[in-house]
Amino acid sequence: MRDGFAASTIESLTRKVLITRGIFPEVVEALSRRFEVVHNVEDRPWPPDELASRMAGVSGAMATVMDRFDEPLLARCPDLRVISNIAVGYNNIDVPACTRRGIRVTNTPGVLDDTTADLTWSLLMAAARRIAEADAFVRRGDWKIAFGEQYFLGQDIHHATIGIIGMGRIGQAVARRARGFDMRVLYHNRTRLSPDEEARQGVEYAERDALLARSDFVVVMAPYSPATHHLIGANEIAKMKPTAILVNTARGGVVDDAALVRALQEKRIAGAGLDVFEGEPRLAPEYVTLQNVVLTPHIGSASRATRIIMCNTAADNMTAVLEGREPANPVN
Ligand code: DGY
Repeated sequence: MRDGFAASTIESLTRKVLITRGIFPEVVEALSRRFEVVHNVEDRPWPPDELASRMAGVSGAMATVMDRFDEPLLARCPDLRVISNIAVGYNNIDVPACTRRGIRVTNTPGVLDDTTADLTWSLLMAAARRIAEADAFVRRGDWKIAFGEQYFLGQDIHHATIGIIGMGRIGQAVARRARGFDMRVLYHNRTRLSPDEEARQGVEYAERDALLARSDFVVVMAPYSPATHHLIGANEIAKMKPTAILVNTARGGVVDDAALVRALQEKRIAGAGLDVFEGEPRLAPEYVTLQNVVLTPHIGSASRATRIIMCNTAADNMTAVLEGREPANPVN
């Protein structure tokens, strides 16, 4: 066990664990062989007060990105030893507060990179080729004339320039997919890749403003933190091409939604593909009235196979901590 954390084994803890949302029965069943499991089968998000009361006597929690584990909640969980997030992101958890209280935090990095990159591309392509608009047109019965030279003219993806802000594992998976479209790939990241790595991946480092100005597609892949709050706001959008498309599958809050809504309304940029929003599940109401944005409800990692792996990974991380072993994916 890492320094500063008690190597408590399950004998010295309660055997109770809690899964905050509905997950796959086989994962729950496997955990039930070792622990007393409280599972939110109903899948109704528990408000903070209800979550706190359900946490009574709980040693381990498997949580989603929507469950806020902040200081007031942690203060009501004296038995808690581990919060195992079923996600790579963990901005729902006050990690320093957990560390102070000797609570381990774990996440599920790596296993969702390709699936999230796939969804990023789905949104990019849907926005570029106006798929949602065209689909709605057909469904409404508005397709009365068989073919139109000017129907739903969009942007070319092939041979265009994609700019990726945040070049971690998911950003790199997005970049790999760009090769098939013969694209130029720019990236911006806190830490620059080595020249060898840039050459191997076929990517070019750019300062953020240069990336914004040169890219036909700007993809935001930065995790949310106070430092990345509104990383893309009115000033940044103003630097983008009027034909550019912005894609955010990272976190709500990394993009300033109010600024983006204004830019889309004024057609300052061509469009956007968004999977994450400030204040989910509520989103800026203007988004749903705009044709030039494709919207999905935070489903970046939502393939069946990947979500099962994420749940199993989270279950293994939680079990390891409760059994006094080092988890595979520690955050603190
Ligand atoms: C993550 O892993 O952080 C996603 O947002 C949830 O799948």
